[in-house]
Amino acid sequence: MLTLTDVGKRYPTGDRALTDIQLTLPKGQVMALIGPSGAGKSTLIRCVNRLVEPTQGSIRLEDIELTKLSGNRLRHARRSMGMIFQEYALVDRLTVMENVLSGQLGYVGFWRSFLRRYPQDAVAEAFRLLERVGLPHAIDKRADALSGGQRQRVGIARALLQSPKLLLVDEPTASLDPKTSRQIMRLIRELCAERELAAIINIHDVALARQFADRIVGLRAGEIVFDGQPSELTSEILTTIYGEEDWDTTPEPADDEETDEQEKEREAHRYQSGRDLRRLASLADGGVR
Ligand SMILES: Nc1ncnc2c1ncn2[C@@H]1O[C@H](COP(=O)(O)OP(=O)(O)OP(=O)(O)O)[C@@H](O)[C@H]1O
Ligand SMILES: [Mg+2]
Repeated sequence: MLTLTDVGKRYPTGDRALTDIQLTLPKGQVMALIGPSGAGKSTLIRCVNRLVEPTQGSIRLEDIELTKLSGNRLRHARRSMGMIFQEYALVDRLTVMENVLSGQLGYVGFWRSFLRRYPQDAVAEAFRLLERVGLPHAIDKRADALSGGQRQRVGIARALLQSPKLLLVDEPTASLDPKTSRQIMRLIRELCAERELAAIINIHDVALARQFADRIVGLRAGEIVFDGQPSELTSEILTTIYGEEDWDTTPEPADDEETDEQEKEREAHRYQSGRDLRRLASLADGGVR
């Protein structure tokens, strides 16, 4: 249902982020996209919903050529792609329900959502989704009163409110504990199966990718260097993707204390997810903001 042909991206800075990407994703398939930092995972996802303009190639969603769309038709096509970020990408001061309904921006328009007048059927659907993701009791809570896992459940419900055909997921578990990470991945997987949704999930945790994806694609320096089943992902292939490392031993658990480096990275992701959301919202509304 999603086909990328010869997709390439060179940023204006000269950074070549993607080269000759060929990828076909059938309906209902959950694909994990793995690769080292800077490999081009986020760029690939953003090219699909055109938050980033590919500089080469074509991207088709069913019979629609996404790379040729603009204006209303692009806005319409974007509704069929739900985006899930790290759990930070919620508006803290809004309630759970309001955060979920903000997924309707493309339908109800900026001013109606600004005034918080949502159509009844959207509210009813949001209730159903919050129940499905396990948060029926948190509807009126403010987003900043939730745990990381609960926040991510809100993000998932928000992405599903548009009834997408495809989910684009950028590091959904990057800041969650191991148990919560598995629960979130399991939930995404189940929802894809229930709704015949295809998904591209960028993920750093190889074990999670193995456990929950139907297919794994490995990117290195903007090129696909592996495309296969989780069972085919050997230590040799991991070395091809990530470079030299002893893949058969389990590393010592890391110190819980967050390093400056990790904190900086977390902030950078938070900033990028917030920017992506605001852009999607303003684009959905014809650029009112
Ligand atoms: N807006 C931008 N302008 C210029 N270069 C960019 C931009 N965004 C990304 N890049 C560059 O493109 C390359 C791919 O970046 P991208 O963010 O897609 O990698 P990633 O695999 O998602 O990394 P991470 O795992 O750290 O999230 C990197 O070299 C990066 O520096
Ligand atoms: Mg990224």
